[in-house]
Amino acid sequence: MTTVVNIQGQIVPPAEAAVSVFDRGFLYGDSVYEVVRTYRQEPFELERHLARLDRSAARLGLGLPWDGRRTREEILRTLAASQGEDPPEEGTAPWNAGQRSLRVIMTRGCGELELDPASARDPLAIVMASPLRAPKQVSYREGVACRIVGVRHGAKGDADTTAKTGAHLSNVLATREARLLGAHEAFLLDREGLVTEGASSNVFLVRGGRILTPPLAVGILEGVTRGIVIELAREAGIEVGEGSLRVEDLTAADEIFITSTAREVLPVTTLDGRVVRSGQVGEVTTRLHALFRARADGASRAR
Ligand code: PDD
Repeated sequence: MTTVVNIQGQIVPPAEAAVSVFDRGFLYGDSVYEVVRTYRQEPFELERHLARLDRSAARLGLGLPWDGRRTREEILRTLAASQGEDPPEEGTAPWNAGQRSLRVIMTRGCGELELDPASARDPLAIVMASPLRAPKQVSYREGVACRIVGVRHGAKGDADTTAKTGAHLSNVLATREARLLGAHEAFLLDREGLVTEGASSNVFLVRGGRILTPPLAVGILEGVTRGIVIELAREAGIEVGEGSLRVEDLTAADEIFITSTAREVLPVTTLDGRVVRSGQVGEVTTRLHALFRARADGASRAR
């Protein structure tokens, strides 16, 4: 299967999927987006993602071209058009095999060549369905390496780090920095040196059996996976704290993990080139990932 693209309700081959050079999403990152994944070819937590798309658009004063019902329909239609055999990939976790990533992008459309969005008339809606890119099974067994990068959270003109917008340059540069150093994910600090989030994930640590994560108030994206993990931890009787974290908290942690739509709960066993505690995947991380797996499998079986 290759990527299937839906532009304004028309499904087109990827090679013909083009937008205007005058589109404000292209010119200024004046757009919002969501990334949803499937389990057993069903979108997971679609309503939470659509609610976040609405919140992101409201923060930018961007009128969405489709209402929730139409967006849902178009996502399902694009997903259906993307069905087909995928070549098996070695090392893929079984729950990820053949699954799709569904990206919804809504831009403010075209207008006069000026910053003021007042002349932008026709917002643009795009849905893309592509093969899910998720960590291999070995990454869950052994954990991944992360780097605290020099790029500061929201430093490169990202308008609002609590909204999921196309103005994402800090995250792009942070990822570039981390990958050049051989790490899987970048952790960004804010100007005060507080830990915020990963370039495309939320950050958690475990200390004395308790999990800790930065609060939304530091200006992070309210991750759908973050929210589910906090709920699952509380249900399981694991104490959860949302509070300011510094680099020292990360280096002294018993365990570190990150969460995101594609990664679920991914253990971090190396930070800035040093092993986290024993260097093994921790007990709490393993337990939370198992709870998450059960939740995701249950959600897709219930349909
Ligand atoms: N990224 N923080 C940032 C900055 C993100 O971009 C993301 C998600 C997350 C995790 O959110 P969620 O659990 O809802 O996926 C946190 C998506 C997946 C992306 O841009 O590809």
